[in-house]
Amino acid sequence: MNTFITGVAGFVGCNLAETLLKRGHRVAGFDNLCRGRLLNLDPVIDNPNFTFKKVDLADLDSYREALIRLHERHPISSIWHMAANSDIPAGVTDVRVDLRDTFMTTLNTLEVMKHLNIQTLAFASTSAIYGDLQGIKLIEDIGPLFPISNYGAMKLASEAIISAAVESFLERTYIFRFPNVIGTPATHGALLDFVHKLNKTPNNLMVLGDGSQQKPYLHVDELIDAMIYIYEHATERLNYFNIGADDDGVTVKFMAEQVVAIVSPGATITYGEGNKGWVGDVPRFSYSIEKLRRLGWKPTLGSAEAVRLAVRQIAAQEASK
Ligand SMILES: NC(=O)c1ccc[n+]([C@@H]2O[C@H](COP(=O)([O-])OP(=O)(O)OC[C@H]3O[C@@H](n4cnc5c(N)ncnc54)[C@H](O)[C@@H]3O)[C@@H](O)[C@H]2O)c1
Repeated sequence: MNTFITGVAGFVGCNLAETLLKRGHRVAGFDNLCRGRLLNLDPVIDNPNFTFKKVDLADLDSYREALIRLHERHPISSIWHMAANSDIPAGVTDVRVDLRDTFMTTLNTLEVMKHLNIQTLAFASTSAIYGDLQGIKLIEDIGPLFPISNYGAMKLASEAIISAAVESFLERTYIFRFPNVIGTPATHGALLDFVHKLNKTPNNLMVLGDGSQQKPYLHVDELIDAMIYIYEHATERLNYFNIGADDDGVTVKFMAEQVVAIVSPGATITYGEGNKGWVGDVPRFSYSIEKLRRLGWKPTLGSAEAVRLAVRQIAAQEASK
């Protein structure tokens, strides 16, 4: 099976590539390396079944041309669209960041898929599409949806344009609504941020917000397992699933304490004010994964265990630099 991954040099993309290669897929991927790194592809770059090219997916002409060439050599059976802006605050400061890297990359992916008659799409969506529903258990069919970040808005718009493409040419689509995903190689996120801060000032960790934000966390290995499970078992033309831990999550305070214990025991933690880390941050959400459970998949790690595992992995990643 020839699988194409956008954003392949990012955190989720490189883990996905590694897993699909192990499962016998031929994998190709593009990334413009704006956030991902070539180093992330070290485990797969020498695999003869893997191809990488640096391409900006927001530039339709170069994207189309590069994908046509790839498709001629190895016809692509499915596209896993993982590329997006992953810096939510950057997208709040400049609305064009998410327009470009989150929405236009999706629109252009659909354009090239239509052009090449590739009919299967898997898409990385997010809990951010739901907006701030004040901790209500989020089921997939809840609405109306009012995202509170440009990132969430452009992901919701991406889901909408994908839905329209299902009507016109896509044969099978999988929309995965991720929670917060953690693990290595970490490219962004609160855990990495805390490790960086403690490496700079080992005696004190400054935390954005009052630490009470509470969210579910899923380890990247489990996320990938769930995505592949959905891909192999869901049978609708348009399949959409929350993927997450089966609990109400852990607080930012808990995460900060775990990082301090591993990276700089004894450091004090200073909290900011208010329950938001930044504009567009959803302070508390809780995911229903009932639909996914009915399909037959559930996570083995809770949010707390996933955080503990990821802290050890991220601390080791940063120590080895
Ligand atoms: N990690 C999470 O917690 C999380 C949560 C919800 C949703 N998601 C979604 O999962 C996907 C993967 O996220 P991630 O954590 O791996 O982020 P990431 O930043 O590590 O990976 C995204 C990759 O996309 C690439 N990219 C961005 N714009 C591009 C462009 N114009 N052209 C080519 N490449 C481009 C980046 O260089 C990066 O390598 C994203 O769509 C993200 O929105 C992630």
